[in-house]
Amino acid sequence: MFKTTLGPFLLLLLSHLSSTALAFTMKARVAVVGSANQDLTTYTAVLPQMGETVTGTTFATSCGGKGSNQACAAASLGLTPVTMICRMGDDVFAKDLLANFKKKGVHVDEEATILQGISTGVASIVVDTKTGDNMIIVTPGANHQMKASDVERSLKGLSEKPAAVVVQLEILKEAALAALKTGSELGAITILNPAPAPEAGVLDDFYKYTDIIIPNETELRKICGVVEDAKGGSDMEEYLAKQLLTDSGVRKAVIVTLGARGAMVVARDQEGADGVTVSYVNQPDDLPCKNDPIADTIGAGDAFCGALAAYLSSGVGLEEAAAMACGLASMSIRRTGASYPSPDEIPDCLKIKSAVDC
Ligand SMILES: Nc1ncnc2c1ncn2[C@@H]1O[C@H](COP(=O)(O)OP(=O)(O)OP(=O)(O)O)[C@@H](O)[C@H]1O
Ligand SMILES: *[C@@H]1O[C@H](CO)[C@@H](O)[C@H](O)[C@H]1NC(C)=O
Repeated sequence: MFKTTLGPFLLLLLSHLSSTALAFTMKARVAVVGSANQDLTTYTAVLPQMGETVTGTTFATSCGGKGSNQACAAASLGLTPVTMICRMGDDVFAKDLLANFKKKGVHVDEEATILQGISTGVASIVVDTKTGDNMIIVTPGANHQMKASDVERSLKGLSEKPAAVVVQLEILKEAALAALKTGSELGAITILNPAPAPEAGVLDDFYKYTDIIIPNETELRKICGVVEDAKGGSDMEEYLAKQLLTDSGVRKAVIVTLGARGAMVVARDQEGADGVTVSYVNQPDDLPCKNDPIADTIGAGDAFCGALAAYLSSGVGLEEAAAMACGLASMSIRRTGASYPSPDEIPDCLKIKSAVDC
């Protein structure tokens, strides 16, 4: 009699043991707090005047929003579980976005995510096929319903503590700040991508909860209050990045993405120290696609942010993580829109060194 009951028991015990072992090795987790939008793109050769109706050429939908893009980019490396914390309406766009997250392996708590009586965030995009210019209206919808308390509850309720929390600014300021505060409380690396960039001063109370801030060149100038056309070049960028660390109190590093020139990493020498180290990194030399034609740079910055979070969560050092994040961003610009490779398309030089040497 013992024999018959012990078998299933043993199996249960074994599976329990192995899943706990797995849980311990899976501590590297990325939580992205941010926006999820459905992009609705109409391509037309003729733009309508007010009150006029014209016939478009083609139409396409795609999943977007900086938060969603960054979560998908982080998951594309296949290194670490990724969770998206966001809000959507109870509509067909949400269904599409949820299906996309599922396909990309991004975890979403559907019950907390879907709200009644409000639309999912949408970006209505019109592209002039003659010039390539575009006009965009972004309607945040449910993205602006996520409150600070929602973010705190979701982050604290994760089955495992996140190793990194990533946030951008297409959600309410209070919600973004809550992501950084709660992430800090949980001992995660907190990453702020200040996009779209607010006026100087708006982020003053964010910096002390931010380990790493990742602006591009325009965003860096804007959050530092430097007028757009001020002369500067890379000296100016270095100066402003150092200022964010020494004066504004960002905790560990400022990483400025520099388009084709890769990224500048300005890092504090030690915790609490005033000294900083500046280094310039770019995609690995042996990235297979690096000479392929560029389709567009949509979502390149998001690829960088998502990848950086995944690499750091997996224990890669800051400069190496930034170089490899440039690699994923470089892969993304060879594809149309914010589209990222799947884990089985990741080349060896973007895999973690301990696993594969490149
Ligand atoms: N022309 C390029 N060649 C190689 N890599 C590029 C190029 N443009 C962008 N990248 C990669 O993408 C990263 C982000 O690009 P960029 O600094 O332009 O950010 P961004 O302006 O936020 O991007 P986005 O176009 O998504 O708004 C860069 O750090 C770089 O690694
Ligand atoms: C930086 O990102 C913003 C979006 O937040 C974009 O409008 C701007 O063109 C980017 N700047 C550069 C230099 O790539």
